[in-house]
Amino acid sequence: MAGTQPRQLHLNAFVHGCGHHNAAWRSPRAKPAELLDPGYWTGLAQTAERGYFDAVFLADGQSQGDISHGPLWNLEPLTLLSAMAVGTDRIGLVCTVPASFYQPFPAARMLASLDHISRGRAGWNVVTSMFDAEAQNYGMDALPVHAERYGRAAEFVQAALALWESWDTDAVGAEPGGSYADMSKIRPVHHDGRNFRVAGPLNVPRSPQGSPVLFQAGASDDGRNLAAQYAEGVYSVAADLPSAQDYYRDVKARVVRAGRNPGQVVVMPGLVSYIGGTAKEAAAARAELDGLVPVSQSLAQLGKFIQHDCSGWELDAPVPRLAPASDFTGPAGRYATILRLIETEQPTVRQLLDRLAAGGGHCTMAGTPEQVADQIQHWFENGGADGFNLMPPVLPGSLEEFVDRVVPLLQRRGLFRTGYKTRTLRGHLLGSD
Ligand SMILES: Cc1cc2nc3c(=O)[nH]c(=O)nc-3n(C[C@H](O)[C@H](O)[C@H](O)COP(=O)(O)O)c2cc1C
Repeated sequence: MAGTQPRQLHLNAFVHGCGHHNAAWRSPRAKPAELLDPGYWTGLAQTAERGYFDAVFLADGQSQGDISHGPLWNLEPLTLLSAMAVGTDRIGLVCTVPASFYQPFPAARMLASLDHISRGRAGWNVVTSMFDAEAQNYGMDALPVHAERYGRAAEFVQAALALWESWDTDAVGAEPGGSYADMSKIRPVHHDGRNFRVAGPLNVPRSPQGSPVLFQAGASDDGRNLAAQYAEGVYSVAADLPSAQDYYRDVKARVVRAGRNPGQVVVMPGLVSYIGGTAKEAAAARAELDGLVPVSQSLAQLGKFIQHDCSGWELDAPVPRLAPASDFTGPAGRYATILRLIETEQPTVRQLLDRLAAGGGHCTMAGTPEQVADQIQHWFENGGADGFNLMPPVLPGSLEEFVDRVVPLLQRRGLFRTGYKTRTLRGHLLGSD
């Protein structure tokens, strides 16, 4: 991004289950039988790597949830990324780390290990989590309140960074006849905060990136402030360009206020793409998937997002008026997106359900490869995005289509790399290793 090079787009592949569409697993193109096979996930990462993506990203949750309507979590992501690291060479490997439940020491240890195993390609998405069911697996009855979770997350990041700093690069000399390591180059951290006490030092040598790359995806005020303070990559949610521009402006301004360079924080809204030979073909592919989801399932999902029972809602009537965002106590980002969709698109209940069916309200682009590339370019050049967090509706097909048909157009337009120029994830994001 820096220097005399024209600004370059960033692409991240968010791989999840059989794809981000609620009906993905029902599609004949999906591979639900392979979700426990590391080869499936490595194959997805290899496809994204063939398209020179910055990174592949695995989300995570800490409770089982209802999977009668589709897969949710399968393999633990840090473990899985270690397997994916072995089958890939350059692509970044990012996964969620829940600050509300984990302790900084084992998290820093596992991430440093992944950074070694992948030779400098590890990244972590710090989340504050959303569900009491997750807290109940960690000795709590309910999640701590929002501000408390974000306070803990900030301290979690500080402690992890201190642990990664606890080793100098040249601490291990392993000189025959001398010491194996110079212990003056491995220091305790003595972190003693409100939420964590960590003596340190870490018990993993300094990793290739020093510290794995930090991502953040919170939409609330606290989430944006945490991103502004520490994140190098931001996964955002924007249903349309104006809301993407608002978010982009706001986060970059917060980055400046935090005393950091806004060019060093890459903002990537989610993007659900449907590609076809014609616009009609792409729309048909989308409609076919939408048609595979039972309506009761979509209503239940909407009910969960807005924390309201929608099961009796009339499908072809306008969406009933919802409480303002200020009165909503659940996850703020998704709720704001839904309010925005209702305000700007004035959908019927059925249309809103279709709009949320893949990814839950992220930007959706359907069309020919040229049309999708045009829209990507438009967002990129008009203050909406530094890149995109691609959320393929069906895996592996929608990712392959994007890599094979859209990436070459972005490359021809000089917007996207034609090969990796750097070896580390931080290098891909920020321009140098
Ligand atoms: C692309 C994306 C990926 C996310 N991944 C996760 C995840 O894996 N686990 C999780 O608990 N939350 C995840 N989140 C949710 C947010 O990180 C955040 O916890 C949530 O939006 C609530 O915080 P907020 O009130 O600041 O918005 C994700 C959000 C986005 C946009």
